[in-house]
Amino acid sequence: MSQGLFISFEGVDGAGKTTQAQRARDYLQGKGLRSMVTREPGGTPAGLAIRELVLHGMCAFPSFAVTGGTDVVDSSDDLDSRTEALLYAADRAEHVAQVIRPALERGDIVLCDRYSDSTIAYQAGGRKLDEGSIARLSAWASDGLIPKRTYLLDVDPAQSHDRVNDEPDRLEAAGDAFQEQVREKFLELAEQEPDRFRVIDASLPLDEVWRLIQEDLEALTADMIPNLPDQDDDEDGDDAADGDDPADPDAQEDDLDDDAGDAGYDADEDDDELDDGGDDEDSDAALDGDGDVEPAASLTDSAEDDRMGQGR
Ligand code: TYD
Repeated sequence: MSQGLFISFEGVDGAGKTTQAQRARDYLQGKGLRSMVTREPGGTPAGLAIRELVLHGMCAFPSFAVTGGTDVVDSSDDLDSRTEALLYAADRAEHVAQVIRPALERGDIVLCDRYSDSTIAYQAGGRKLDEGSIARLSAWASDGLIPKRTYLLDVDPAQSHDRVNDEPDRLEAAGDAFQEQVREKFLELAEQEPDRFRVIDASLPLDEVWRLIQEDLEALTADMIPNLPDQDDDEDGDDAADGDDPADPDAQEDDLDDDAGDAGYDADEDDDELDDGGDDEDSDAALDGDGDVEPAASLTDSAEDDRMGQGR
């Protein structure tokens, strides 16, 4: 079974992850390495629905607003923090099973705009939920899949906020202290796993940030064998002509548009990936970013294990 490479991009809102992930994809494809950008939340059809709910609360579904007998739900605090954590976990489970793992099994490079470190930084660091429980929940949802490399684009949230133009979502609206705690938790995670993380100063100009990422990517992919077929000579069974093939950078222009309605998920592409899903023969084991088998975390571990980093 060929193995791909799993890379995540993390950071506070507005740190520039999306731009850098797209540059990385274009660069890697230029090297003949089949690469795709995807994101959380919202990398699958179910994930898109979850994304709307988790970013906008019940305001995203006005027709479901309760209007009689019970209080009308209209505030940005209309989801309990545990509900929020479970929604992100559900999004991840679907995304890993339907998109990320099949792509890795095809030997592709998956560039994920946010992944499990966001859950720990936002739900534990920001929302103050128990970190061990959150880490185990996330590890269970992903069946133990962790990135080989994580680029943490680190920037003062006060600075990155200026880059967020849209109406703030529930997390962005949580305030400066919240964003600062998220940043601190990201940095703490990076310190705990220096081999996986590369912390990049995202206050630098975009081109300089990219140069640092590119340097690392070059080393990381040095031994990878090009697998990007010519569009006229597609031998791997993917339908390169359908406009959704990761081989076609133009087909992916819209992949990570910040508008939730144009989210990274592409229906046709996911159809292809669904066909490849369900190959995991060992439900108690999972591939990490470079194909090593990792034990899946258990949600039933004792409370004593609820310490930082356990179960990840
Ligand atoms: P998004 O618009 O994708 O933010 P950005 O463009 O900054 O990446 O919104 C995703 C939001 O969801 C963001 O505020 C971080 C938050 N989030 C969590 O709280 N937990 C998670 O597990 C993930 C993946 C994201």
